[in-house]
Amino acid sequence: MNELFRQGTEPIESGVRTRFTDVVVKAGYLQEAPEILRRRDIGRYAIITDSIVARLYGDKLQQLFRDVGLQVELLEFPEGEQSKNLDTVGTLVDQLGAYEYGRNSAIIALGGGVVGDVVGLTAAGYKRGVPYVQFPTTLLAQVDSSLGGKTAVDTSHGKNLFGAFHHPILDLVDPKTTLTLPERVYKSSFGEVVKYGAIDPHFRRELEEGLDALLRKDAELLSKFVLDSLLIKAFYVDKDPFDKGVRQILNFGHTIGHGVEFASDYELLHGESVSIGMSQEGRIAVSRGHWTEKELYSLNNLLQRIGLPTEIPDYLDKQKIMGAIRQDKKKDDRNVKLVVPGQDPLTPIEIKIGEDDLVQLIFRADS
Ligand SMILES: NC(=O)c1ccc[n+]([C@@H]2O[C@H](COP(=O)([O-])OP(=O)(O)OC[C@H]3O[C@@H](n4cnc5c(N)ncnc54)[C@H](O)[C@@H]3O)[C@@H](O)[C@H]2O)c1
Repeated sequence: MNELFRQGTEPIESGVRTRFTDVVVKAGYLQEAPEILRRRDIGRYAIITDSIVARLYGDKLQQLFRDVGLQVELLEFPEGEQSKNLDTVGTLVDQLGAYEYGRNSAIIALGGGVVGDVVGLTAAGYKRGVPYVQFPTTLLAQVDSSLGGKTAVDTSHGKNLFGAFHHPILDLVDPKTTLTLPERVYKSSFGEVVKYGAIDPHFRRELEEGLDALLRKDAELLSKFVLDSLLIKAFYVDKDPFDKGVRQILNFGHTIGHGVEFASDYELLHGESVSIGMSQEGRIAVSRGHWTEKELYSLNNLLQRIGLPTEIPDYLDKQKIMGAIRQDKKKDDRNVKLVVPGQDPLTPIEIKIGEDDLVQLIFRADS
């Protein structure tokens, strides 16, 4: 990893302190976390998770909290992107109210990116904001969504269209929890890891070398890559906490990615969609002379080695993809704005492209 990305963070035991959030990355940390949280000045905790993670880790974590004398309830909602909506947030807010949680409480987001987004937004709004802790259990959430304070839910018009910025106080990452991930979910998480490789050539070379071991879930290497990924993320978040400038480099692949994810009714996983989005946005960068064919080849090669898709599937409704892209938060009145990495990590390339040109490029001129 480029040493630039260590700037601004202060090492703490097994992790780093970023501007808003202390991050700990430690295999087996699930066991230790309740004791650490007991030392905080927080009256009561609510663990919120999804229906799958509840059975794998939620019941156990609740017991560990109780073992150290913490007051805690476990709340859950059905797993999957289909739960990432305002109805789920409303239900959770009612449940927290029924348990009479006050403002001296904190919420634990135990799960993948869906849980993190739903819980983050719930914490942002409940009683005008309560602190929350990320306890990410998918690789995607560990390397990306658990840090940065972006919280959102989907609406009938597209992905992440209702949200808020609310930074977690702690991001407690136990890479061991990824051992129980289904193969497809684990692999799809690499979409976001490859994104960091597109930003930082040093990181990409390390990823290319370590990929086979990472796909075999080599625990030590996994912890290193999770921490390095989080350091890259923290660098941009600390520079631009509200996503108005340089942090937008982290949206590489997401404008087209969100479009295909939404159009597939979330049959395509987030990381798979981002993989397609990065490849297509990379192709647009080549067509505009910002990237070389060789750079695009190396991106596609890495994605394909992992087994991630790079092309938009033919069966997806093109109008629906374009409708979702039109809703993208970065779009202005006339053009779709794409942000792709360039030579300098501090100077992302902004590409403004009209809708007709975009359609020609991503659907190969046949629509
Ligand atoms: N806020 C952000 O900055 C940000 C960044 C990137 C992605 N996201 C969001 O993250 C979401 C995708 O996250 P995801 O890929 O983690 O999906 P997810 O949260 O839906 O989790 C995928 C599946 O894995 C299961 N699971 C979670 N942990 C498990 C474990 N340890 N063992 C076994 N099963 C487990 C879940 O129950 C679910 O079925 C998308 O909604 C995306 O928009 C947010």
